[in-house]
Order: sequence, then C-alpha cells, then structure tokens
Amino acid sequence: MTPQQQNLVETVRERFGPKSVTTDADAIAPWLSDWRGRYHGASAALLTPGSTGEVSAIVALAAAAGVALVPQGGNTGMCGGATPPADGSALLLSTRRMNHIRRISAEENLAVAEAGVILADLHEAALEQGRRFPLTLGARGSATIGGLVSTNAGGTQVLRFGNMRSLVAGVEAVLPDGSVHNGLPVLKKDNRGYDLNQLLIGAEGTLGIVTAASLRLVPAVASRAVAWVGLETPQAALDLLRAMEARTNAIESFEIVPASALSLVLEQIPGTRAPLAAPQPWNALIEAVASGADDEAPGALLERLLGDALEAGMAVDAVVAASEAQAEGFWRIRDSISEAERTAGVTIAHDISVPIPDMPRFMVEGAAAVESRFPGTLVSPYGHLGDGNVHFHVRAPKGADEVHWYPAHAPEITRFVHDLVVASGGSISAEHGIGQLKRAELERLGPPVRVATLRAIKHALDPRGILNPGKLVTLAPEAPAP
Ligand code: FAD
Ligand code: MLT
Ligand code: ZN
Repeated sequence: MTPQQQNLVETVRERFGPKSVTTDADAIAPWLSDWRGRYHGASAALLTPGSTGEVSAIVALAAAAGVALVPQGGNTGMCGGATPPADGSALLLSTRRMNHIRRISAEENLAVAEAGVILADLHEAALEQGRRFPLTLGARGSATIGGLVSTNAGGTQVLRFGNMRSLVAGVEAVLPDGSVHNGLPVLKKDNRGYDLNQLLIGAEGTLGIVTAASLRLVPAVASRAVAWVGLETPQAALDLLRAMEARTNAIESFEIVPASALSLVLEQIPGTRAPLAAPQPWNALIEAVASGADDEAPGALLERLLGDALEAGMAVDAVVAASEAQAEGFWRIRDSISEAERTAGVTIAHDISVPIPDMPRFMVEGAAAVESRFPGTLVSPYGHLGDGNVHFHVRAPKGADEVHWYPAHAPEITRFVHDLVVASGGSISAEHGIGQLKRAELERLGPPVRVATLRAIKHALDPRGILNPGKLVTLAPEAPAP
C-alpha cells in the first residue's frame, strides 16, 4: 500500500468506522477478478462507504492525495471495468452498503434507489407496490443500480422499454473532486445546458461515482406468456418479429438462440430441458404480456399468432409454455448461455450491434467469414435480435485452453469481427461498455472524433485520472496494439 493509500484508509476508518473499509486480503480477493475470470487486479483495501456523504468525503480525500479509486457494484460487468489495475495503484470502492431504496411512488411511477441496490431486490420492491422496473438480465441477482446506470445496461426488455438511458430519470453522483451532482428531482423539462445525468449514464465510473438514481416504473404485468419457436434462419426470426409486431403491441421480449447455444446449455446446466421435440437451427424465445385486465390473454394471443406463422411456413415448430414453471424453464435456458459457455471452454465474446434489418445477414455471413478465416472456431451468435444486438461469440477449437490459446488468438479474431461490424455500420459495444476489454479497439476504430471527444470530457472532469483509471478512455492517446 502506498503511504497516500495508507493515509486515506486510516482517515476513512477513523471518520466512518470499521464498516467503511477492510484491508483483509481474503475479504478483498473475490472482488479482484471479473466474472469471466480474464482480468485480475490488486487493491490493498476495499472501501465500503455507507452514504453519499461518505462517498463524497472519500473522493475528496482521494483527489487531494492523488489516490485513484475503482467503483464497483455487483462485479458482473463483461468488460473488466470494475477490476482494479494489477499494479495496486488504485483502491476498490464498493457500493454494497448503499443498498436502500429511498422511496417508491406508485403514483409517480418512480423509484429512487441507492447505487448498491440489487436489481432483483428493486423488482421485488416495485412489485409490492403494483409496479415494475422494466429492465432485466441474467445477472439480476447480483447486478446493482449503480453498475446498470454506469454501463447503460440493456437486457431482454429493451425491445419495448429501451435500455437504462430511457429508464433513468435522474442521477445522484459524486464527481472526481468530491462534489455531489444531485440530479434526482424528476423534471419533465430542464434545459440548463448539457444533460449531466445522461453524461454519467454509461460513463463506466470514469466521470463520477453514482450514488443513487431515480428510475421510471411501469404498471406490473397482469399476466404473461412465453413461447419457444423453432426457425430455419435469423431472417425468418426477424420476419416473425415484424409480423407479430404488426398485429399486437404486447411483445415484450424476442431473443434469438442458435442450436449451438441451446445444446451447450442443455449439456452444461443441470435441470434444463429441450423445449421442442426436435432441434431446430435457430430458436426464438418470445414473451407477450397483458398490461391491463382488458388486454387479450397473452397465451391465447401467442397461440393465435404462432399458429398463423406455422401455417405460413415462417416458423418450423413452436410451443407456448403451459405453466409459469415451464415459462421460467425457457427463460433459464436463455439466461444461462454465458454461464454454459464459461463452464464449457474458451469463448471470445463480442457484444455488437448493426442496423436491425442487416443483422440476420451479418449473423450468417459474419459467422461464415470468421469460421473460414479461423478454422476450428464456431460462431454462436445469440441474444437481442429485435434490438439489432447479438452476442457474437466465437468458441475456440476443441482442446484450446484459456491460458495459452486465448491470449494468442483472441486479439486477432476480435479485430477481424470488429472490422466486419464497422464495415456494416455497427458498434463494437452494444450494451456492455468498453471497460478495459475494448479500450484498444475503441482507440483503433474510433471514429477519431468520438474518441477525442470522450477524452476531452474525461480531461475536463477528471484531469488527474482519479476515477477508474485505464477504463473506457485513457487521458493520453495510446499507441496502437502491435
Ligand atoms: P460492476 O460489474 O460492478 O461494474 C460495471 C462498471 O460500472 C465498472 O466500470 C464499474 O467501475 C462501474 N460502476 C459500478 N458501480 C458504479 C457506481 N455506483 N458508480 C460509478 N460506476 C460504477 N449486461 C447487459 O447490458 N445486458 C444483459 O443482458 C446482460 N446479461 C448478463 C448476464 C450475465 C449472466 C452476466 C454475468 C452479466 C450480464 N450483463 C448484461 C452484464 C452486467 O450484468 C451489466 O453490465 C451490469 O450493468 C453490471 O452491473 P454491476 O453492478 O455488476 O457492475
Ligand atoms: C446476455 O444477454 O446474456 C449477456 O449480455 C451476455 C453475454 O455476453 O455474456
Ligand atoms: Zn445481452
């Protein structure tokens, strides 16, 4: 620990008590690696402030002493954004103790939640008031509001409700000098210049530490139905989505799953069962909801729409879950894909978007291009087709190992994939952010105006690089990777 870090830790302990910091290496260890286990950092202490005032004081002290801080929520991020640098030059600051829901107003359709509130807990609390927060994802049992805001997370309801940017009505955050931006009051109109709330959303902890957020709620669903559909191609899946959307606005989720992802889940995740009698090349998981008592029952709606799709030859097979347990089972398959991949072997993850109408072609032609350029690999693209965003995951050839194969081959394969994405007018980060995983690629692919502007904003707010150094964008331009 540097003398400055030591000083900071002692001051924090004195001022805010033993709960606010630990230097116990065993207690810190689980928070030093990312979910995929690809980044490993070091931090001599874990700061755990209990309030916005404490975060503000800690950041002010850190700024004065030149001690860098890495904000961390549930540590479920996919880009190494919450992993501290390996040289121990920064201290971890976890929001885990800031886990109060300050208020939920059914009347205003609003929740104000502290940064450390876990998404599943917010879902539950909203439901108790007859409301819901309409953003969900596989990591909902661990991901926090602060992390979701800071990554501008997406998930499986973006189709209808948008990502965090659309759902966050206000942000409270501590800026890199320790001052507090209070953007929690919800104003329908506010034109006092740049939108600071939106600037902090998706900033990955590089511009401020989010301490709370005002979040938009919607009425709880009256009922839902979930279907699993077998399809020949991704184009058929997109055609099906459009055909359904032309007839109803009850479709809330539409996720695409290739045969390769389904079979891996069935093999790796205990208790999962194939939804259809015979495997199909592509699958769609579709959820329809009734928001009010007068809406058509979603089960009957899906039966009717999917019956027509089967008759028209748009889909090959389909089943509507007969019970809530079966519906949960379908979702479990979808939500377990990244877990199954992690267990099974080496996967290179790409979280990409292209214009929605181009995505089916990209999935097929992009996969063929990768598999022919890198023999033995298998591309398994899955996810949020309706948002023009898939997880374009490349599985390593059989026998490849994480320690040798991944560092030797992943950079070249990733550059190849990202070049295809950029050539299609897409983005190399649709929903997970940049973190440290994609920083060099962001620098390489820009565009330069975007990178220069991000850097200028970082310079303006955090000129000494106190918050989350080495993530998203560095203060000085980096030399291109060899
Ligand atoms: P962390 O991982 O702790 O941090 C993520 C980033 O935010 C880091 O840069 C960190 O420094 C910063 N940060 C955290 N808290 C704060 C704060 N209070 N203030 C400032 N910065 C902060 N993501 C999606 O978008 N869509 C999905 O469908 C999806 N599915 C997933 C499924 C699984 C199984 C897993 C493991 C992850 C998935 N993710 C998904 C990724 C992840 O859950 C999200 O990125 C989530 O927003 C991270 O939240 P967290 O609290 O774990 O943040
Ligand atoms: C998902 O949608 O399941 C996650 O965002 C996936 C991932 O890349 O692991
Ligand atoms: Zn996703």
